[in-house]
Amino acid sequence: PQTLKEAFEDDFYVGAALNYRQANGNAPQATEIIKEQFNTVSPENLLKWESVHPKPGIFNFEPADKYVALGQQNNMFVVGHTLVWHNQTPTWVFEDEQGNAVSKEVLLQRMQEHIDTVAGRYRGKINGWDVVNEALNDDGTLRQSKWLNIIGEEFLEKAFQFAHEAAPDAELYYNDYNMWKPEKRDGAIRIVRNLQNKGIKVDGIGMQGHWGLENPSIEQIEASIEAIAQAGVKVMITELDIDVLPNPSNRQGADIDATFEFDERYNLYTTGLPDSVQQKLTQRYTDIFDLFRKHSDKISRITFWGVTDNDSWLNDWPIKGRTSYPMLFDRNYQPKPAFNAVINTA
Ligand code: XIL
Repeated sequence: PQTLKEAFEDDFYVGAALNYRQANGNAPQATEIIKEQFNTVSPENLLKWESVHPKPGIFNFEPADKYVALGQQNNMFVVGHTLVWHNQTPTWVFEDEQGNAVSKEVLLQRMQEHIDTVAGRYRGKINGWDVVNEALNDDGTLRQSKWLNIIGEEFLEKAFQFAHEAAPDAELYYNDYNMWKPEKRDGAIRIVRNLQNKGIKVDGIGMQGHWGLENPSIEQIEASIEAIAQAGVKVMITELDIDVLPNPSNRQGADIDATFEFDERYNLYTTGLPDSVQQKLTQRYTDIFDLFRKHSDKISRITFWGVTDNDSWLNDWPIKGRTSYPMLFDRNYQPKPAFNAVINTA
């Protein structure tokens, strides 16, 4: 096979997150790769609350309409990301005109209006929604957020219930990072069980794949794939990228320096990726795709968080101005050795 979607057509969907320019058709070289290689797309930012619903009663649907049309015209599985999250959600959502916290009833009403309007508009067109994103701490407890603080745990079931009402045909997912940590993955499984016990539809768990060259281990990822499948829902690897640069959150067991400042280690490879690191990246992608293939009966979709090294958010995170190399395509839109290695795992 020459393309990712052909290589894995009997296994799982393979996709990429699109940024505004790509979704709008203003990035023709990336678009060529997207159409050629992928059979599913995700919206990197354009369906987040702050983007699609920036002010009360004001919706900005143009980018999302173009994104959905691109996916549909190319027969892709179109993903929505995300309805309820603590990030990239405007503060007005949680406040009254005086800036005081709104009541539970008001916040639930705003959540419902948002989900009805956004998920409802793309009913029958967006095939799967990340309904709730990142609601857990790494220890598996529910994360403090305005959603949790104002509504209580019920915010989870309400979000899924509203999403199902607005888009009855769409698959509905819970999505989070560090899902290779057993406590966190078990927290996600608890959320899913709780929904199922209440008769609320939930179809899968997305494990964000923001991983490093060494961590998490293949065994850790595998244990979570198995545990999630055991819970009876689909497993998806969402937001896949392999950061070649040091990142405190990938240094397992190391103390996380919350205040860490710009450090030359975070901009090591400004003149290109050294061969030795390129080889490590290729090996890492080989190992994880071998694992995905092994569990292709459990995994429904693998989505890269970007298309080329140039458009990856990892050039700006955890600090701005880095030069990272996490994707399968380089800054000149050329496939990297890791691309061929991934195809060859099929
Ligand atoms: C990131 C985008 O890639 C960036 O462009 C944006 O500035 C911040 O958000 N987890 C998620 C994604 O669920 O929505 C985030 O995307 C990356 C982490």
